[in-house]
Amino acid sequence: MKTIFITGGAGYIGSHTAVELLESGYKIIVADNFYNSNINSIENIKKITGKDFNFYEIDICNKAELQKVFKDNEIDAVIHFAGYKAVGESVANPLMYYRNNIDSTLSLLEVMQEFDCKKLVFSSSATVYGEPEKLPLDENCRLMTTNPYGSTKLYIEGILKDLYTSNNEWGISILRYFNPVGAHKSGLIGESPNGIPNNLMPYIVKVANKEISHLNIFGNDYSTKDGTGVRDYIHVIDLAKGHVKSLDKLFRDESCLDVFNLGTGNGYSVLELVNTFIKVNNVEIPYQIVERRPGDIAECYADPSNAKENLKWKAELSLEDMCKDAWHYIKKN
Ligand code: NAD
Ligand code: UFG
Repeated sequence: MKTIFITGGAGYIGSHTAVELLESGYKIIVADNFYNSNINSIENIKKITGKDFNFYEIDICNKAELQKVFKDNEIDAVIHFAGYKAVGESVANPLMYYRNNIDSTLSLLEVMQEFDCKKLVFSSSATVYGEPEKLPLDENCRLMTTNPYGSTKLYIEGILKDLYTSNNEWGISILRYFNPVGAHKSGLIGESPNGIPNNLMPYIVKVANKEISHLNIFGNDYSTKDGTGVRDYIHVIDLAKGHVKSLDKLFRDESCLDVFNLGTGNGYSVLELVNTFIKVNNVEIPYQIVERRPGDIAECYADPSNAKENLKWKAELSLEDMCKDAWHYIKKN
């Protein structure tokens, strides 16, 4: 049985991936410093799966703490989720983003090298495509970023490519996520940002729950199907399964440096998401159209064919599932 070390495993995508890994027969070790999560998700991963695992409350930037994890456990591969992810905050405080996202990755890579663990899955983002060169976006599209958060992802991708060039015994899978939404069916783990959310789905959920009076839709004058922004929303469970498939490939291959888009390939507008949420959950979402949000692009969706062909992975869950499961999680919590 292979053992996977999950950094940031108490967070939104990490906790769902932990469940899928345990249910696929992997052993896991999880680390998080609870900067953007708490111990409940660790307990709930155990509750959902009925399986136990070691958890370390550590900062991934801290090499000595990481070395202890690698000394205590025989680790076959790592999935690196730990990092900060709020675009606006990264514009206001770029150094905090460069320090945490890049430092944690460098510490992790150095310790992996020291312990001869050379298989890594890295959480990148569709944000590395910036203003899309063409649609749908494939992995060879031009890369550019428009904010420090995105730059951390692009720099780390570069670091990983240099590392592989220096020693091609590494097996590295860079996963570029599109827009993850939804929650586990149990309602025990999901996305629950503190305060006022930046992203659309958590905002809609708070409006439906009457914690916020209405949704502001940022612009209806884009050249899209109905004028509102279009994105490739992907259920977090499908995304989690993509990680299992990419690990399976890392263990099959001698070595590799792969890049995969993880998206559905479908673009939905803000209004389509809002109307689907209203319909499947039978709730009200009052909204108003306001100015465009600075830095937003009109449209962004994936060409997921590389993952389909080489990972044998395809997103299965619908926009209705995403809306139902996001709402179920909030009602339960
Ligand atoms: P999240 O904030 O829910 O999870 C990240 C976890 O990492 C949190 O639990 C946080 O406490 C932890 N963490 C942060 N810095 C740490 C450190 N130095 N040491 C230990 N733990 C630390 O975010 P998420 O949505 O689950 O995202 C996971 C990864 O996927 C991130 O790297 C993010 O940039 C990337 N990503 C997310 C999205 C998205 O929309 N959610 C899209 C593309 C890429
Ligand atoms: N939107 C609104 N009102 C809101 C929030 C969002 O109308 O209150 C609109 C946006 O203008 C956009 C769409 O909803 O058209 C989606 O916005 P999100 O903020 O949910 O997502 P983004 O595509 O802007 O960005 C997200 C993450 C980034 C990541 C990117 C691609 O925040 O970090 O997906 O993965 F890079």
